[in-house]
Amino acid sequence: MAKIATIEAAQKQAEVRRVEHLPVPALANAKRPKWLLVASGKGGSGKTSTSLNLSVCAAHDGLRVAMVDLDRQATLSRWYERRPDDAPALTLWHGPMSDAARALSDIDGLPDIDLVVVDTPPGLDDHPDASRLLVARADFVLVPTTPGTADIDSVVEWMKFLKRERANASFLLNKVQRAHTRYRTAKLRLNRSGALCPVDVRLLDDIEATHDHGVGVIEIRKSRGAEDFTAVWDYIKQQLGMADQ
Ligand SMILES: Nc1ncnc2c1ncn2[C@@H]1O[C@H](COP(=O)(O)OP(=O)(O)OP(=O)(O)O)[C@@H](O)[C@H]1O
Ligand SMILES: [Mg+2]
Repeated sequence: MAKIATIEAAQKQAEVRRVEHLPVPALANAKRPKWLLVASGKGGSGKTSTSLNLSVCAAHDGLRVAMVDLDRQATLSRWYERRPDDAPALTLWHGPMSDAARALSDIDGLPDIDLVVVDTPPGLDDHPDASRLLVARADFVLVPTTPGTADIDSVVEWMKFLKRERANASFLLNKVQRAHTRYRTAKLRLNRSGALCPVDVRLLDDIEATHDHGVGVIEIRKSRGAEDFTAVWDYIKQQLGMADQ
């Protein structure tokens, strides 16, 4: 397990490790990496928290992970800049949604990547072409949502689009409070609209804390969120056909 550095120390290490726009080498990957698209169109549903935590789980499984941050808010990139040096390495590509095609070709040119995790901005409706491109490339699309009615309204529509595009996709319930009635009604409604990840992610302070320190919950000692994201990662590995690697 990586030790959590202070924020100051992590920030000092930041600049060197960031990869903005990667050159495309002449030879493409021999083995095609799997692409996981984390997208919901709804702000604050947990896309970035899910992207970073699943990337960290994958890296701890020994996979070589490239993260793609397509959000101008650059939340994932800022998290990456805080990442302690002794934590398992990740690669980052950052650019706007309008550059999604370039992200695909840049990442295709990277040697030795096993998994690509794409974090998307809210408001995907504003980027229909880029969204289609990413969905077409994705081996799996994970759609995080809170149990809130407005969030579920939005992701149910997004799932209709994903079905039309014939994407492999499932909802992920995030920020849940399992004792609440809303939790059960949200689950029932999502289950009616598409596939639902069988494990969900609770509303937990340690998930919020990952953003401060550039770590994933599995890198925080005694984190309750570790159980949740490890289980989600187990599910995603199955969906990507990577469970036995
Ligand atoms: N399960 C959780 N428990 C507690 N806090 C959470 C959880 N999931 C996300 N958060 C917090 O909620 C906020 C929004 O989460 P996050 O940035 O992952 O969402 P997002 O969908 O990427 O948002 P945006 O659409 O703005 O990019 C963050 O402060 C994050 O730390
Ligand atoms: Mg985000």
